[in-house]
Amino acid sequence: MAYNKDIKKVTTHVLQEMKNTGEKIAMLTAYDFSMGRILDHAGIDVILVGDSASNVMAGHETTLPITLDQMIYHASSVLRAINRALVVVDLPFGTYQGNSKEALNSSIRIMKESGAHAVKLEGGKEVEDSVKRIISAGIPVMGHLGLTPQSIYKFGTYTVRAKEEEEAHKLIEDALCLQEAGCFAVVLEKIPAKLATEVTSKLSIPTIGIGAGGGCDGQVLVLHDMLGITNEFHPRFLRRYLNLYEEITGAVSHYISDIKKKDFPNDKEQY
Ligand code: KIV
Repeated sequence: MAYNKDIKKVTTHVLQEMKNTGEKIAMLTAYDFSMGRILDHAGIDVILVGDSASNVMAGHETTLPITLDQMIYHASSVLRAINRALVVVDLPFGTYQGNSKEALNSSIRIMKESGAHAVKLEGGKEVEDSVKRIISAGIPVMGHLGLTPQSIYKFGTYTVRAKEEEEAHKLIEDALCLQEAGCFAVVLEKIPAKLATEVTSKLSIPTIGIGAGGGCDGQVLVLHDMLGITNEFHPRFLRRYLNLYEEITGAVSHYISDIKKKDFPNDKEQY
């Protein structure tokens, strides 16, 4: 399978083409300019400015506290760095669940003030009207099913979703509903691999999995988790590509020690 790094700009149509040709979609989160720049240069297809910023950037326990203004700040920082990737921005909790007009207004603010290429929201049938209304204004929408962290207080735990027949059936119905409403892709979070594979074959739009197995059309991870900046989170689905917590701790300790022993700065490091 050809690796599509030659693509100049990833669009929602390119993602559809990737699904059609069987090329897997690579997506990661980013929340700032410097990381956005590295990810874009490395050739990532999609950057998600996720509301996981609430956890990894702001230190909250859940994604609920982050505001629309804060999401726009993170998104506009990322977008200043991007040449190639498609940038999708999460609609934060409380900015779209009320009604479809509110959902549209929040999406317009994100697009206008950050330069984002698309928005993402959580839920199925219950957000159908909002999805349609946002898309009718020309804004592409990505769905998000399975473990939807904005509903953590309803679920009570972060365990695997849709293990039982009834919930699995509802998830398939919701995925079809989102596709019918016009979503260009759907994130499937923490559901059994078999179910994610079934959803992926039933949908003509791409599925992007996180903890949903290799049968999805693409994969997403939270950047701070895959780089090992977070070190207290060990779900089975997480592959760590670096251990930056250790690396950074080592570098900072070295720096402190160099200063304490009057080794830094040396003669060549001053004017
Ligand atoms: O906010 C986020 O990082 C997400 C991913 C986990 C898909 O929604």
